Amino acid sequence: MDHLSLCPLVVPLLCLVILALSKIFKTVIQDQEKSTADIPPGSHGFPVVGETLQFMLSVNSGKGFYEFVRSRRIRYGSCFRTSLFGETHVFLSTTESARAVLNNESGMFTKRYIKSIAALVGDRSLLCASQHHHKILRSRFINLSLTRLVDGSTVVQWSCSQICSRKPFSLMRKVWPNLAHFITFKAMCKMLISLENEEELGSLQRDVGFVCEAMLAFPLNLPWTRFHEGIMARGRVMEVLEKIIRDRRNETNSHNNNNHEDFLQQLLAVDSDDSASSSDHYTKLTDAEIKDNILTMIIAGQDTTASALTWMVKYLGENQKVLNILIEEQTQVAKQASDKPFLELDDLTEMTYASKMVKESLRMASVVPWFPRLVLQDCEREGYKINKGWNINIDARSIHLDPNVYSEPHKFNPSRFDEEAKANSFLPFGMGGRTCLGLNMAKAMMVVFLHRFITTYRWEVVDGDPSIEKWTLFARLKSGYPIRVSRRL
Ligand code: HEM
Repeated sequence: MDHLSLCPLVVPLLCLVILALSKIFKTVIQDQEKSTADIPPGSHGFPVVGETLQFMLSVNSGKGFYEFVRSRRIRYGSCFRTSLFGETHVFLSTTESARAVLNNESGMFTKRYIKSIAALVGDRSLLCASQHHHKILRSRFINLSLTRLVDGSTVVQWSCSQICSRKPFSLMRKVWPNLAHFITFKAMCKMLISLENEEELGSLQRDVGFVCEAMLAFPLNLPWTRFHEGIMARGRVMEVLEKIIRDRRNETNSHNNNNHEDFLQQLLAVDSDDSASSSDHYTKLTDAEIKDNILTMIIAGQDTTASALTWMVKYLGENQKVLNILIEEQTQVAKQASDKPFLELDDLTEMTYASKMVKESLRMASVVPWFPRLVLQDCEREGYKINKGWNINIDARSIHLDPNVYSEPHKFNPSRFDEEAKANSFLPFGMGGRTCLGLNMAKAMMVVFLHRFITTYRWEVVDGDPSIEKWTLFARLKSGYPIRVSRRL
C-alpha cells in the first residue's frame, strides 16, 4: 500500500489515539483529585504548563482574562485551584475569605516580590517593599492621598472643556485621542508633582506608557525587546523626577518658594521639618524612595481611573433613568457653584447620587478583578488545605456579582448604595494594609468628571461593542468606547 491509500485509516486511528490519551489523562487528573480531597477542587491541567493555555485562550477571546476565572468559579464553587505559568493559584470568592486574607490578621499572606516589576517601578516602590518597609512607606503616604484634591479636579474640568467636538473620539485607547487617559494623567501629574507643561507631560505620558507595556512583556532585557524599552523609559522618568526634586530643593534653599501645593511638596516639607523628623518613629525618605513611589502612583492610578471613567460613561449611556436623576442633581450643584471658577470640596459632598453612581460603576466594572497574595504558611480556608508557596487570589469581581451579597447584581442600580454595603463586600479599592492609596483621588476625579460631562455635553455612542481588549492589566473595552459629543444647549 502506498502512503496515500493509508489516508482513510489515519483519521480514525488518530481519533482513537486522542480518545485513549484523553481518557488516561482524565483518570490521572481524577486520581489526583481523589487522593488530595482536602485541597481545593480544580484541575492542574497538563503537566508543567498547567492550565496556562486555557488562560491564554481566555485572554485572547473578546470576553477577557476574567472569563477563565468566572467559568471555574461556576464549575467548582467559591474556592478552586488551578495551575498557571508553573505555579498553583487558589481563587477565593467569599466576603469572609476577603476579610481574612486582605486584613492578614494571621500574618500568613503577603504580596509576592516580582523581580521584573521591581526593575520597572523600582525596588523602593511600595509595591516591591518588604512587609516592614512597606508599612513605613505607607505611613508616610497615607495622609497625603487627598492632597490638592480640588485643584486636581480643576484639571479634570479644564480638560473636559477641550473636548467639545462633533468628531467621534475614543474614551480609552492607546491611540490619540485617548481622552480618559489624558484627563487622568494630567490630573494626577498636577496633584502629585504640579507638572503642567504640555510638552513635558506628553513625553512623560509616553514613557510611563512604555513602562506599563513592559510590565506585561517577557522580562528579557535585550536591546530590541519591549521589556528593555520599558527599562529605558523608566530611566528617563527618573531623570525628570530627579530634576523636579532638585529644583524644589533649590527653591526652598534660596527661599524662592513657588507655593507648590502637591504630594511631592508635602513629602519634602515633612522631611525638612526638624520637629517631625526628629521623632523616634520617623524615617526620612530617600530621593530614590520618593521617585519610585511617584512613578508607582502614576502607574497604579492612570489606567485604573481611566478605565473606571470609561465604564462609568458606558453604564450612564445604558441607563436613561439614572442619567435623568443625575442631570437633575448636577444641574442643581452647578447652579449653586455658578459664582465659583471651580468646584470645591463642599460641592462634592452635595453630589450624593453621583457618588452612588461612582460606587455602582466601580462595583459593576471591578476594574481590578482579583487581588493576589503569596501564602507564607500552610493554612486552611473554606475547609480546604492551602499550602505554603501557593498564590491565593481574592476574587473581588465574583463577590461584587454574587446574588447572595448584592440583590440583582447584574442590574445597574446606584440606589442600592442608599444603604451601606454588607461588610467586606465592596472591594473596588481592595481592603486592609494594601488598600488603594489613591482611592479618594480616584473617586474625586470620577465625580468631578461626571459633573462636568453630564452638565456640559450630550453624547452618542459610536461603537458599543462590549468585547474586552486583549493583554491589558485591567478589563477595558476593546473599541475604546468611541462617542460623539456636542454641547448641551
Ligand atoms: C478607579 C481607580 C482605581 C482603582 C479601581 C484602584 C484599585 C486598587 C486596588 C484594588 C488596589 C489594591 C490591590 C491589592 O490589594 O492587591 C490598589 C492599590 C494601590 N493603588 Fe489604586 N486604584 C485606583 C486609583 C488609584 C490612584 C489614582 C492612585 C494614585 C494616586 C492609586 C495608587 C495605588 C497604590 C500606590 C496602590 C498600592 C498600595 C499598597 O500596596 O500599599 N490607585 N488600587
